[in-house]
Amino acid sequence: MRQPLVAGNWKMNGTRSSIQELLDGVKGGMGEVTTAEVAVCCPHIFLADVQQQLQGSAVAWGGQDISVHESGAYTGETAGGMLAEFGCKYVIIGHSERRSYHGENDQTVAEKFAAARKAGLVPILCVGETLEEREGGITEEVVGRQLDAVVSHCGIDTLAEGVVAYEPVWAIGTGKTATPEQAQDVHAFIRARIAAANSAVGEGMQILYGGSMNAGNAAELLAQADIDGGLIGGASLKAADFLTIAKAANA
Ligand code: 13P
Repeated sequence: MRQPLVAGNWKMNGTRSSIQELLDGVKGGMGEVTTAEVAVCCPHIFLADVQQQLQGSAVAWGGQDISVHESGAYTGETAGGMLAEFGCKYVIIGHSERRSYHGENDQTVAEKFAAARKAGLVPILCVGETLEEREGGITEEVVGRQLDAVVSHCGIDTLAEGVVAYEPVWAIGTGKTATPEQAQDVHAFIRARIAAANSAVGEGMQILYGGSMNAGNAAELLAQADIDGGLIGGASLKAADFLTIAKAANA
């Protein structure tokens, strides 16, 4: 049985006061979240605040990116050891916004996955196709390639220590959600691809959906057999909406 995971990706949003209010709201509603694990991935500048507020609560936290390096002259980067020092459990790896705006390729993403594991963090590996790739009929080719890059660099047993998030790029921040069937099809493909390397790893892998998941559509998406939770952008910035999604993952 795979435990559902609902993780918020705040992206580059929030202020010290707004996140305090947001986390108070989330913590306040956690009593009704009985099954799912809940986490928030915050801008790194807020990590100390988030740690202080969430320590001892049922909500885990994490970063949004990691350096491939452990330390050194890499201006603006965050090392895995730094994320770990601030109590992070998770780190998002290879988000499409990093891939497209920061030139991260499959190899870099695979190295980041390895760096996260080395620091003891649970990587949330994002994969997903663009609209052009979907319309060109190469969704599986793209997602398969993105997964294989991590497996060949890190090995299937290391992949098993992370989480996969399927985030169709065309559904991110657009209000266009993949239909439950579209999402389920790709999730089943991802699970089969991993299972082809190791069936137990495929069966046990938590595969999250991300892309305009919200309080209104979460239940239907989360009801799909191979959707084990969500990676939530915009809707994770509102405590009530985020909690509604986390509760939907209880079922
Ligand atoms: P939205 O939920 O805002 O579409 O963002 C999804 C996402 O990119 C989460 O990582």
